[in-house]
Amino acid sequence: MKALVLIGGFGTRLRPVTYAVPKQLIPLAGKPMLYHVLDLLPAGIEEVVLATGYKADEIGRYVTEHPPRVPVRMVPEAEPLGTGGGMRNAGGDMSDPFLLLNSDVIAAFDVAALLTAQTAHGGIGTMTLVEVEDPTPYGVAALDPDDRILRFVEKPSREEAPSRWINAGLGVWRQDVLARIPSQTPVSWEREVVPSLLADGVYAFRAQGFWEDAGTPERLLRAQKYLFESGRGGRRALPAGTTGKGPAAIDPSAAVEGASFGGSVTVGPHVIVGAGAYLEDCILMDRVTVDAGASVVHSILGPRARVHGGHRVAHQILGEGAEA
Ligand code: GTP
Repeated sequence: MKALVLIGGFGTRLRPVTYAVPKQLIPLAGKPMLYHVLDLLPAGIEEVVLATGYKADEIGRYVTEHPPRVPVRMVPEAEPLGTGGGMRNAGGDMSDPFLLLNSDVIAAFDVAALLTAQTAHGGIGTMTLVEVEDPTPYGVAALDPDDRILRFVEKPSREEAPSRWINAGLGVWRQDVLARIPSQTPVSWEREVVPSLLADGVYAFRAQGFWEDAGTPERLLRAQKYLFESGRGGRRALPAGTTGKGPAAIDPSAAVEGASFGGSVTVGPHVIVGAGAYLEDCILMDRVTVDAGASVVHSILGPRARVHGGHRVAHQILGEGAEA
């Protein structure tokens, strides 16, 4: 079986960091988001096709330098084609069925059970759904008693939402859905294609366990916390010369002696953290500087950002080279 990962979006909700770094390369618990998504794939996936667009070159370079455990192939789009257009553009050689994933799904799903569900009902596809308190930012499904999806509404109002079961960004589809997407034109899979497939039998796989769409700063930091707590983070212990508590994933090239930690921290390559600085629930990307006595809490700092001595950065997202 093959998997198709949609990875071409602009990541606007994570700006300004995503002006410099594609969302999928933001490190969570010491590892880029994309690699956590690839960890979801069950054994036996023969190839992952990455439908790329925005910052495809950066992603390609990183993947070449850090080969994932599954073989990946990139298919870029010259112009953004949307989720459906990206699938059509990249899905020329998909298996039948194939797995479809968004690139910001951080979850503890049993993907093998999803595949079993698809085989059992034999419809055109199966979407993994999760139940949330507020479904309005997501695609929401109306289900019949056999978990067949009767209606699918993208980002409805509270009144229009047919349930609280939403698209978790992971599904399995028969290959012939790809031919039903218009080619070389922008198409939304969720808005334009999925509703037209319902008559052919699209079923829900109701997933339990942790799920986060790590597309906003708050959700991304929540996903990082989960990854650390579930043991899927990188190095977790604090290095000698630091105080406080982990978990933290600290790149060996970073200088953090004298710093204090409050848990759930990623420190990227060549970061410098001064003595007495405090870090908690944050991500410091490569070459960030946090001067002595400064603190960074619940924040994401893009490459080469700098926090000056004594300053406190809390609930912020700083772009490349920004100063605080
Ligand atoms: P926001 O701009 O913050 O909404 O983030 P995003 O660009 O990632 O959009 P969204 O989260 O809605 O996209 C869902 C998935 O589809 C993500 O994995 C995106 O990378 C991907 N995606 C969105 N638009 C495109 C596109 O035009 N082409 C391709 N190939 N993938 C896309």
